[in-house]
Amino acid sequence: MTDTSTLLETALQAIEASSEERALEQLRVDYLGKKGQLTDLLKGLGKLPAEQRPAAGETINETKRKIQAAIETRRQLLVEQSLAAQLAAETVDVSLPGRRQAAGGLHPVSRTVERIRSLFQSAGYSVAEGPEIEDDYHNFEALNIPGHHPARAMHDTFYIADAISAAGAADTSVAGASGSGGSAVGNGMSWVLRTHTSPVQVRVMEQGQPPFRMICPGRVYRCDSDLTHTPMFHQVEGLLIDEEVSFADLKGTLEEFLRAFFEADLAVRFRPSYFPFTEPSAEVDMSCVMCSGKGCRVCKHTGWLEVLGCGMVHPKVLESSGIDSKRYRGFAFGMGVERLAMLRYGVNDLRLFFENDLKFLRQFN
Ligand code: PHE
Repeated sequence: MTDTSTLLETALQAIEASSEERALEQLRVDYLGKKGQLTDLLKGLGKLPAEQRPAAGETINETKRKIQAAIETRRQLLVEQSLAAQLAAETVDVSLPGRRQAAGGLHPVSRTVERIRSLFQSAGYSVAEGPEIEDDYHNFEALNIPGHHPARAMHDTFYIADAISAAGAADTSVAGASGSGGSAVGNGMSWVLRTHTSPVQVRVMEQGQPPFRMICPGRVYRCDSDLTHTPMFHQVEGLLIDEEVSFADLKGTLEEFLRAFFEADLAVRFRPSYFPFTEPSAEVDMSCVMCSGKGCRVCKHTGWLEVLGCGMVHPKVLESSGIDSKRYRGFAFGMGVERLAMLRYGVNDLRLFFENDLKFLRQFN
């Protein structure tokens, strides 16, 4: 029979030397497991004379307890060591600044549309929308701009190729409406990227009965690109139709709007102009916000800035959209959002709005 004290000593040394939990577990199996050395010793007890058995059994059990205790102590030490090592590897620098949530912000053009929208909504206007791919009828014809009309030269239009036009014409009721307009351009192309938001006037009038009081913000497209023009830009259209509406209402509305928008006591003037869908028509100028009307580069030393187009809705436009022009009248206006944003924020290059430079955009948030 193996000497238990030697066995104990060897076991304790091995336990002390083990540096991993796995190795320690193996030792436990070797000494204390079902086929372990101490189990063997216990099994061997039967060979001893009866009177020696209790003492020998006691010695073996004592050895077993000591080995068990040593393994447990060692195991705890190893667990603590590995935890400490893990913590040391995963140091947290509590002095580091926290990670910020990168919050997005509204684009200055959207911000400007929102501002215009809220000012008109507070005056009782509702907000309408219309398609950006528009048929020739709504973009031109119904606005009293027939195919041969010179006013079409005012807009550098993006026409949509026939294949797409045919697909578009198949699906909506718009096709029926455009039927009367036909291919007014005379070249077979009757779909365009809308050149202005005015077609939404027509759509609103076709779909309901007066009174109307609406604005329509949206994208418009013109084949045009230089310092002050981009092929896509934004407009806000306005339309008010009722039984008693005069040019004085139009003047008051736009003056109030411009003063509220710019938060300044601006001078506003109406210059006679021409739009086929309004009569009379006017171009609206306001005193230059950059120099307070004294004259500067922005206003080309005139002291005035042209900011929008407007007029009394032409009776022909009312009639072709099914409105009784004897009973109803009204005004319409259209403004360029980028232009208003540039003037409000003092931006001197239109293209900055579309370059997506965060250094520029962050200034508005
Ligand atoms: N649609 C015109 C343009 O784009 C602006 C306008 C709108 C003028 C409504 C008069 C009335 O230039």
